[in-house]
Amino acid sequence: MNRKRVPIKIFENDLPASIDVAKRIAKVMLEKKATGKPAVLGLATGNTPVKMYRELIRMHQEEKLDFSDVITFNLDEYWPIRPSSLQSYHIFMHETFFKHINIDTKNIHIPSGEWREEEIDTRCREYEELIIENGGIDVQILGIGRSGHIGFNEPGSERDSRTRMLYLDKKTRLDAASGFSGEKNVPKMAITMGVGTIMEAHEICLMAFGEKKASIIRRAAEDDISSTVSASFLREHSNTTFYLDKSASEELTPLCPP
Ligand code: PGA
Repeated sequence: MNRKRVPIKIFENDLPASIDVAKRIAKVMLEKKATGKPAVLGLATGNTPVKMYRELIRMHQEEKLDFSDVITFNLDEYWPIRPSSLQSYHIFMHETFFKHINIDTKNIHIPSGEWREEEIDTRCREYEELIIENGGIDVQILGIGRSGHIGFNEPGSERDSRTRMLYLDKKTRLDAASGFSGEKNVPKMAITMGVGTIMEAHEICLMAFGEKKASIIRRAAEDDISSTVSASFLREHSNTTFYLDKSASEELTPLCPP
């Protein structure tokens, strides 16, 4: 067993954890601004980051946190799906975050569920090139799926995988079923940044809340580092922190005193 542990911060519940991550993002934004460069944020969808987005919106409204030059890259999108579809991550991001802040829409990047099959490889390559042209991702926000995925990097996704299209895991499609009025309506495929793409971010904040994440968090943090649980690769990243609430941390082995 590889016992190398990622730094883990455990909070009473998801609100202080979300506020802590939002503060970290705001700090990076200010640091980048001081160097005259825009911050580049890697963003995630799902229930987990919603309170963090709310806190960033509050900071924008009450503390004038400025997003005017911020550049964003989202992790993933279902395929196929229309960006205007209610279940698309385009709509999620717009409704949950973008429409409430002063971001310039030309700085928003999300893989498209409308890319044609024959152009997907090229589009994915261009997505990666755009991240690099913008200086790389300063802070990458991640949730974790019960399959262990980060982005949509389902089991089998290797450490060097890049942005690409793949099949979704059964657990992932089950978890998405209620949003699509039944599992059969959940797209079978998605486009996702690869594990290798994510690992190039300068800093990574993985958030996980609730008891249903406890078992996968233990596997990601304590089992062997392998493509069986793509989040386990984060232990090889030098600036990753897991932000957990108490319930998500419950299955972790208590650390022995040094
Ligand atoms: P959730 O999804 O935040 O809705 O739990 C996380 C994920 O699948 O990455």
